[in-house]
Amino acid sequence: MKQLRESKIVKQNKNLAKPFLKWVGGKTQLLGQLQQFYPPELKAGKIDKYFELFVGGGAVFFDIIQRFSIKTAFIADINQDLILAYKVIRDRPQNLIEILSKLQEGYLSSNLEERANIFYQVRGNYNQQRIDFDNQNLSQESIKRVALIIFLNKTCFNGLYRTNKEGDFNVPMGRYKNPTICNSDNILKVSHVLQKATILSGNYDIYNQFIDDKSFIYLDPPYRPISQTSSFTAYAKSGFNDASQIKLSQYYKYLDEECQAKVMLSNSDPQNTDSQDVFFDNLYSQYNIHRVTASRMVNSKAMNRGKITELLITNY
Ligand SMILES: C[S@@+](CC[C@H](N)C(=O)[O-])C[C@H]1O[C@@H](n2cnc3c(N)ncnc32)[C@H](O)[C@@H]1O
Repeated sequence: MKQLRESKIVKQNKNLAKPFLKWVGGKTQLLGQLQQFYPPELKAGKIDKYFELFVGGGAVFFDIIQRFSIKTAFIADINQDLILAYKVIRDRPQNLIEILSKLQEGYLSSNLEERANIFYQVRGNYNQQRIDFDNQNLSQESIKRVALIIFLNKTCFNGLYRTNKEGDFNVPMGRYKNPTICNSDNILKVSHVLQKATILSGNYDIYNQFIDDKSFIYLDPPYRPISQTSSFTAYAKSGFNDASQIKLSQYYKYLDEECQAKVMLSNSDPQNTDSQDVFFDNLYSQYNIHRVTASRMVNSKAMNRGKITELLITNY
């Protein structure tokens, strides 16, 4: 019964803007459950500002900004290309659609071999350009680059964004027959929604000066791998290790005590594989630790790709 209610909430959002990229750790599947843990103040219209500081694909951002009366939103991520994509969609959606629809036309009208040529050429160009690319200022070049990012995301294997140690995008081509590369309707909806948003690339503490007691912050950092064998840190050029998780828990405390903000944080639950692992229980002992069920594909034999729990930590 509970399950039914959850899926209904998500379905109602069908006509709204949704994530324009598939992202590792994307929260779309979990949205119905996360919604139950939003702070009551949000539902009561007492939250002015929403912050998502590890925004990725932004599933929770799109949900909150479209369903609640938030005055402004602030999003951040350390991935500069991802943030460039948000800025281009906000400020230059039509130019982006033009370039992307041409890429789509070329790809969809090609046979498999030609598609492979197009894909690996785009991937090569994208990686080559990275070295000296100015991600900070919007230009025709940045719009083209974002078109490449979206193209790669929609045509690569599993639709993921993953880079190697050197920072090169290294996902091989996928086998989708008829992928929607340019979803103009969604790009325009996303652009509309983003008009309310401040968008910056950088570390998660980039907006401290704006956070106050009418703020709601969602933190969705790279997850702590849930077992020795699961190196599920696919974003990690910088690597988000246990020391980073500890530092983040101190930041959580700062948001709670100094800013008096409402804070919700997601992470993996180490107790899926080791019932003695109290890493997060210790770090967040003064807060509410909820365990929500997620059916995730996890790179761990121990989990057998079944249902696992994730942590949701709130200070309210
Ligand atoms: C779990 S993903 C977020 C998934 C997202 N909630 C979604 O629905 O797609 C984590 C994100 O954190 C970003 N990240 C990693 N280290 C960061 C840091 N120090 N500051 C800000 N963002 C960071 C990564 O680039 C990645 O996009």
